[in-house]
Amino acid sequence: MYNSRISGLGMYVPENIVTNDDLSKIMDTSNEWIIERTGIEERRHIKKGDGNTTAIMGIKAAKIAIERAGIDKDEIDLIIFATLSPDYYFPGGGVLVQEELKIKTCPAIDIRNQCSGFIYSIATADQFIKSGMYKNILVIGSENHSGGLDFSTRGRAVTVIFGDGAGAAVISREEDLTKGILSSHLHSEGKFAKDLALIGPNTNRWVNKIIKDNDPDDISYYPYMNGQLVFKNAIVRFSEVIMEGLNKNNLQPDQIDMLIPHQANLRISQFVQKKFGLSDDQVHNNIQKYGNTTAGSIPIALTEAWQEGKINSGDIVVLAAFGSGFTWGSTIIKW
Ligand SMILES: CC(C)(COP(=O)(O)OP(=O)(O)OC[C@H]1O[C@@H](n2cnc3c(N)ncnc32)[C@H](O)[C@@H]1OP(=O)(O)O)[C@@H](O)C(=O)NCCC(=O)NCCS
Repeated sequence: MYNSRISGLGMYVPENIVTNDDLSKIMDTSNEWIIERTGIEERRHIKKGDGNTTAIMGIKAAKIAIERAGIDKDEIDLIIFATLSPDYYFPGGGVLVQEELKIKTCPAIDIRNQCSGFIYSIATADQFIKSGMYKNILVIGSENHSGGLDFSTRGRAVTVIFGDGAGAAVISREEDLTKGILSSHLHSEGKFAKDLALIGPNTNRWVNKIIKDNDPDDISYYPYMNGQLVFKNAIVRFSEVIMEGLNKNNLQPDQIDMLIPHQANLRISQFVQKKFGLSDDQVHNNIQKYGNTTAGSIPIALTEAWQEGKINSGDIVVLAAFGSGFTWGSTIIKW
């Protein structure tokens, strides 16, 4: 019998800072509107020529995580790569990481669960470790949103929210069964698939040849979000899935030392914080600086919280996410 634990964490965000005022210059929005509705003050965008892609940012975060885990890259038995914005339609980002890091020919899995992608990835890694099959798994969440957003006023409700960045974790075998990843809880509800989606690039359209090249009015090539529906579902599902994880481990909300919510909207995080009676010290938010980095959001926030000394041995750490699918999930960790 084995448990699994996070043995190393890393993050990378592009240097290029885009403030709300910067966006106000190119679309009809304002710093006040964005801060009031989302809490976001600025986000990072890949800049032409900086060399970043979704895979490259993930690799930069991964190198830090591997070093902090104290292992050699060739000790990685599996790569799991979560993103909704891969470098290529296929193959996925995992194989690009394997090649760039020159890791032996280990397996690579891509996970397509958007904002819940990192939770789904951790849950997958945890099972491979608990089964005894693998010892060290590299999990990456990375997004290049800025390459695919509508920067006209038409796209403002979505575009102001999202940012670029990556986070990574090494999940390793743990012999002490009282420590590490205690459980993960995953859900989906596909009836809402089109309420937060990017429909345009799909194979049905290729087959039926209904694709129009360079049509500026074809908004199906930009993400669509039914914002209020997403908001309402998020606050319910976040709360449910955190409670599910606590119940599974006989924990009470006041035993949470650190909650890392997916950074969707500061208002959603604040609602969840209040619901569980947590203080500001017990929740780590950084959406103010990075916006919503989807699969990158939890590993970036987790890395930051850990770097700032907010997570210590023995702490109960709760990760929770909700997003496109709809999908949602939580992971409960004893650090
Ligand atoms: C997106 C979100 C911030 C929008 O806030 P909202 O209060 O629902 O706003 P609405 O969409 O109802 O729009 C209200 C008005 O603001 C306008 N608006 C939208 N985006 C705007 C922007 N960036 N700047 C200025 N005005 C904007 C709308 O056009 C609308 O104008 P109208 O009343 O004249 O029609 C909010 O719905 C949200 O956060 N949803 C959840 C998003 C999320 O978590 N997504 C990630 C999931 S993982």
